[in-house]
Amino acid sequence: MRTPIIAGNWKMHKTPAEAVAFVNAIKGALAELSAVERVVCPPYVALPGVAEALHNTDIAVGAQDVHWEESGAFTSQISAPMLVGLVKYVIVGHSETRQYQGVTDEMVNRKAKAALSHGLRPIIAVGESLEINEAGETQAFVERQIRAAFAGIPAEDLSRIVVAYEPIWAIGTGRSASGEQANAIIGGIRATLAELYGAAHAEAMRIQYGGSVKPANMVEFMSQPHIDGALVGGASLKEDAFVELVRLAIQAKGLA
Ligand code: 13P
Repeated sequence: MRTPIIAGNWKMHKTPAEAVAFVNAIKGALAELSAVERVVCPPYVALPGVAEALHNTDIAVGAQDVHWEESGAFTSQISAPMLVGLVKYVIVGHSETRQYQGVTDEMVNRKAKAALSHGLRPIIAVGESLEINEAGETQAFVERQIRAAFAGIPAEDLSRIVVAYEPIWAIGTGRSASGEQANAIIGGIRATLAELYGAAHAEAMRIQYGGSVKPANMVEFMSQPHIDGALVGGASLKEDAFVELVRLAIQAKGLA
């Protein structure tokens, strides 16, 4: 049984003070909902405050990115050793970093390895553009992203990795994939992982869906057999909506 994981990717939202106020407001309600793993991923500058506010809870903190080097002349960047003690998870390969910061498949692989080597858990994000989707090439494209992201990562690290399938055309657009479409692509990701690591490892991997997830469509996604949670942008910024998403995941997976 894979424990579902619901992660809020706050992107470039909330000041450090707003971030702390937000987690203080939801941590009581989220504490009751421990059947699924809950993660918040605030901007870097809010990580110390949020980590402290959640210190004695089982709500995890994640960063939104990490550099692959440990230190050096990389102005603006944050390395894995800097995140140790603050976060459990780190998102790598989010499409916004691929699109606006030129992050390539090879960099995603190096970022994932850097996170793993410092005891952090990467959430590896993949997903296709509208153009690729409309050309019917989603499965092949996502498979290439997965193979590149996992290159050289040994099987013993897999239990510390989460994959997030986020079709770019569904991010922030209000236009989500259907539950069945997302399940089919995520099933394909699992098949690729089975080719790379064997069926048992692939079956144990947690794979999230992301892209315009909200309370109104949460059950549609979470009732799909291959979908093990969600990576949520906009709806994770609202207290009630985020708590409701966690509650709906528990309900849809029959964990209540
Ligand atoms: P939205 O939920 O706002 O569509 O964002 C999805 C996302 O990119 C999460 O990483």
